Amino acid sequence: MITINKNYLDLEKSYLFTDIARKVNAFEKANPDKKVIRLGIGDVTLPLPQVCVDALKEGAEEMGNKETFRGYGPEQGYPFLRDIIAKCDFSDRGIDIDADDIFVSDGAKSDTGNILDIFGPNLKVAVGDPVYPVYLDTNIMAGNKDSIIKLPCTAETNFQPVPPSKPVDLIYLCSPNNPTGSVMDHETMQAWVDYALENKSLILFDAAYEAFISDDSPHSIYEVNGAKKCAIEFRSFSKKAGFTGVRCGYTVVPSDLTVTTENGSEIKLRELWNRRQTTKFNGVSYIVQKAAAAVYTPEGEKQCRENIEYYLRNASLIKEALEEVGYEVSGGKNAPYVWLSIPDGHTSWSFFDYLLENANVVTTPGSGFGACGEGYIRISSFGSYEDCVEAVERIKNLKA
Ligand code: MLT
Repeated sequence: MITINKNYLDLEKSYLFTDIARKVNAFEKANPDKKVIRLGIGDVTLPLPQVCVDALKEGAEEMGNKETFRGYGPEQGYPFLRDIIAKCDFSDRGIDIDADDIFVSDGAKSDTGNILDIFGPNLKVAVGDPVYPVYLDTNIMAGNKDSIIKLPCTAETNFQPVPPSKPVDLIYLCSPNNPTGSVMDHETMQAWVDYALENKSLILFDAAYEAFISDDSPHSIYEVNGAKKCAIEFRSFSKKAGFTGVRCGYTVVPSDLTVTTENGSEIKLRELWNRRQTTKFNGVSYIVQKAAAAVYTPEGEKQCRENIEYYLRNASLIKEALEEVGYEVSGGKNAPYVWLSIPDGHTSWSFFDYLLENANVVTTPGSGFGACGEGYIRISSFGSYEDCVEAVERIKNLKA
């Protein structure tokens, strides 16, 4: 008899963004004359930086040539990419991360889910509330449903989780935060690392949106003392370089990171992750890794920065325009997401429907990210500038 992973039955029927896409498609079908503006899912709209396009073409040419063709590459990523990441994302910023600690992958979403493969059952897991649904769903899939602790991310906590009073095993942190757009400062991050060291917890730090940081807030958890002993970091080229349709990211598992087993032996998590990757993953394609390496050339850095600035301009436009008409808005600074407190008399979903039906603007209901997201909607700044201008005009007009 075929048995199934019954934990899947504990999940919500479908993934948040799948539900939203279904609603929006139905609305468009019923209203073909309406121009719907999508500021829901955080998907980029600017084309790839030209340096990446050139690198993709060059890589494709190499693959079509007998002398330069490549088959399987290293599962951990090509040295040319791991070395440039170690230099540009870490050592140039004063952080000591070895290229061997970097594992190139097809993105942060996969890795934040797959990482649970290397841990045992019945872990106490802390996640923010609201939270990126992947952390929660993958823990439910892994059977941790009954030991998930939700840490409220409310106005009182600056829309970031704060360390719990009791010890936990795994902690998911995300800064700049998805969905609230809040960014951790050094002090807050240090408090989390101190908590983890004291309680023998492991932090899973999602830095997918770090490229949006324009002040001196930390881009990496390894900027704070002790983090290499208690944190894994996930990075993504999706938002930094517009790779949502290309797929590339990486995970840092420092060699200092160990856990002690029941019999007292110290196990390096990097070795377990390496074992997992070499068995279940054949690496990211050569062509894509070439494009990712191009991001770190001077021209690549410039083109990516221009794209990030474009989305940040959208975010501040949305934030300021909605504040002007009296909405309470946070995020949207050093982050691509604007977190809007909805007017009395609405739930997150009813306000989502209201905006879709009356302004034809797609947002994401805050409650879709967790109970503490009730009363909010998330607005993405990844649309075109013109769409963002029109969307806020339409929303403002509803208030008039
Ligand atoms: C989001 O809208 O939260 C993101 O696009 C999701 C993701 O990056 O997977």
